[in-house]
Amino acid sequence: MDGRDLVRSVKAFGSARGRLALRVALRRRRTDAAQQVPRGPERARVPGVMTGVEHRPGGGVLRFARSELLVRVAVGGAVFWGWDGAEPTPSYALADGCPDADPRAVLEPDKDGGWRVVSERVTVRVSRHGSVEILTPGGLRIRRELPPRWWEPVSGGAARWVQRAEVPSDARFFGLGGRASGPRLRDGTYRLWNTDPRGGFGPGDDPLYITMPVQLVVADSGTHLAFYDNTRDGLVVLAEGDEGAGSGHDRHGSSRVGMDGGPLRCWVVAGTPARVLLGWTALTGRPALPPSWALGPQHARWGFGSAREVRRVVAGYREHGLPLTALHLDIDHYDRHQVFTVDRERFPGLPGLAEELRRGGVRLVSIVDPAVKAEPGNRVYEAGLAADVFVRDARGGTARGLVWPGECVYPDFTAPRARAWWGGLYEERLAQGFAGFWHDMNEPASIVPFGDPTLPLSSRHDLEGRGGDHREAHNVYGLGMARAGYEGLRTLLPGERPFLFSRSGWAGMQRYGGAWSGDVTTGWPGLRASLSLVLGLGLCGVPYSGPDVGGFDGSPSPELYLRWLQLAAFLPLLRTHSAISAGRREPWEFGAETLEHARGALLERQRLHPYFVTLAHLSRLTGAPYVRPVWWSSPGDRALRDCEDAFLLGDGLLVAPVLGPGTDRRTVRLPRGRWYDTATGVAHEGPGQVVLDAPIGRVPVLARAGSVIPVRGDDGGLELEVWAPAAGRTGGGVLVRDTGDGWEEPEVERYTTALEDGRVVVGRVVADGSVEPGCPVRVRGAGV
Ligand code: NOJ
Repeated sequence: MDGRDLVRSVKAFGSARGRLALRVALRRRRTDAAQQVPRGPERARVPGVMTGVEHRPGGGVLRFARSELLVRVAVGGAVFWGWDGAEPTPSYALADGCPDADPRAVLEPDKDGGWRVVSERVTVRVSRHGSVEILTPGGLRIRRELPPRWWEPVSGGAARWVQRAEVPSDARFFGLGGRASGPRLRDGTYRLWNTDPRGGFGPGDDPLYITMPVQLVVADSGTHLAFYDNTRDGLVVLAEGDEGAGSGHDRHGSSRVGMDGGPLRCWVVAGTPARVLLGWTALTGRPALPPSWALGPQHARWGFGSAREVRRVVAGYREHGLPLTALHLDIDHYDRHQVFTVDRERFPGLPGLAEELRRGGVRLVSIVDPAVKAEPGNRVYEAGLAADVFVRDARGGTARGLVWPGECVYPDFTAPRARAWWGGLYEERLAQGFAGFWHDMNEPASIVPFGDPTLPLSSRHDLEGRGGDHREAHNVYGLGMARAGYEGLRTLLPGERPFLFSRSGWAGMQRYGGAWSGDVTTGWPGLRASLSLVLGLGLCGVPYSGPDVGGFDGSPSPELYLRWLQLAAFLPLLRTHSAISAGRREPWEFGAETLEHARGALLERQRLHPYFVTLAHLSRLTGAPYVRPVWWSSPGDRALRDCEDAFLLGDGLLVAPVLGPGTDRRTVRLPRGRWYDTATGVAHEGPGQVVLDAPIGRVPVLARAGSVIPVRGDDGGLELEVWAPAAGRTGGGVLVRDTGDGWEEPEVERYTTALEDGRVVVGRVVADGSVEPGCPVRVRGAGV
């Protein structure tokens, strides 16, 4: 118990709820202590020397004195390797099981007694002692896994393992899920255990709600993603390399992954950043496409006390000329905080309210907590007991935790029948008029004053019929909940794309929806952490996310609030949200000047709506995140790899948010090519740095020369904003039209741009030649 825990415990004692919290925490400790078998003496093991090989499709099995290694190159180029009989499946991450093996990839003898598999995209080389190297087709090494080491309890049981890898000395690490201290992951230890940081988080807090054993590594020799497919608690120690300051003694970068059991297996996807995300989302599933309204401005608050207050806030947006497409109801609309209920006194006639808002273009989104109040008479509890869908404790009872409604039980989302049952419960939400779902507290969280704020580790889960405990199920709990909700909604409302986003999750969660930051602390560090989370998740394949604008707790200054909104206006999920005890977040609560600038940010978002729709479709088709690090198209530019305060929005825009106070100018690092300051039209040439104005009313946004940005024109119709290519250069872009919230497959329209005799020419690429664009074009940046 640390100091913070102690304070919590003392505070907690004061109330009945506090006493219950202590009881739940103590019970959790007792249950786990009773189940804990001391590991006892352990024996270390390494693979030993290679003794033989067996050819298999896409590679083969390499046998060593004390272990064996399966290597398999899949169609599409992803490489799988697994020790000790670990196969690609079963896996919670893979969307459709294991992809077929690439029949052209065969195991062949290599130098020094090793073997290799040469494939189109990479060469895998296995040494006679069991190191696994991944090389580019040109022979450059991008990753080298050293022979692993296991520690096996002498008395039997799961082996702990440690897997070290070396990466080039210039490599930078990204990913590992949603991390607050990135996007570049510096030297340090990162835990793989989805955690509610309780009371908010900032850049120093780790781990957070979404952890993933996914590393995205960028180096001169190439970009790759490594995914250690194991759902358990683990530690990743990263160390960047050192180029020896010209002394010629480079120190490579390193990653050390250690886990307390579970399979030692890994996927590696290599190529350009775009190819890596294409390959990664081919494996784990393409991102779900949010409905068009979920790409507009949204407003939430914990503490909307009544339907009247909801109407007041929505009317405020309208009266102040502020766009709004969704309003989110937190737990206070529930009947005593119980999921799938409504407080009918404070929210009478909710379907009517939802319909009224929808007519005004505002959808209602509902929070959904997984924990179900364990109380006779609670319809959901009783139905769940009858269907036997709750997580069990080690003695066979229901596992208990403490959440908002009191003592709760938890659906076991690793059981197919529990997912089906849970998915059916969304019928009640749809009947109440909700159009979207916000999954919260699904690490899963239990609000206890000390110890790990989750279920006992010894709790029993179905794990798709295999059976296991919470150590294995914990990290995929949120992922399973997302699947349950998504599949339920698809059955209940087959004509509409489900919209859900989640606080917790794991590799593959993008198949079902997006994510949000959770309780980011109000303050400039929280603002910076917000960007880190969105960029990191995007590189792990989860493109749709965003922070609580203004921060979760306290009251931001008008300046901080505005800068947060100006950042989020360019992030996929744009949503203000705050705690029940926090100050207001409506844009008109911060004075006339802030209101005017907030309106500017929200209207710009609406103007860019067609671009967001296009980016959402491109994400669905290719896995490319909407929001990308500035090195995305120039991963070889080392200065860009270290640039953490700006991002690309699609291919066309570079956004340089203001992340600190008192700023009215800032330095912006540009990738190569010409970039136009969209506010002034002034052209800047990259690569390099420029200093641009960042007055309180806007943040610098630059457009790539030659790009085509679909926007909403002054008349509300679709328009193509074309930024003039530099002389002698061409450009282009794509447009995917908004075809509503169903499943219609829209065409991807491709455009080219060129400068001919000083005139910008825009063409639409179709199979039989170039034709005029099908919507008005506005040329900008010409004549420079
Ligand atoms: C925790 C969530 O992170 C927060 O967004 C929400 O307001 C509260 N739970 C209450 O539901």
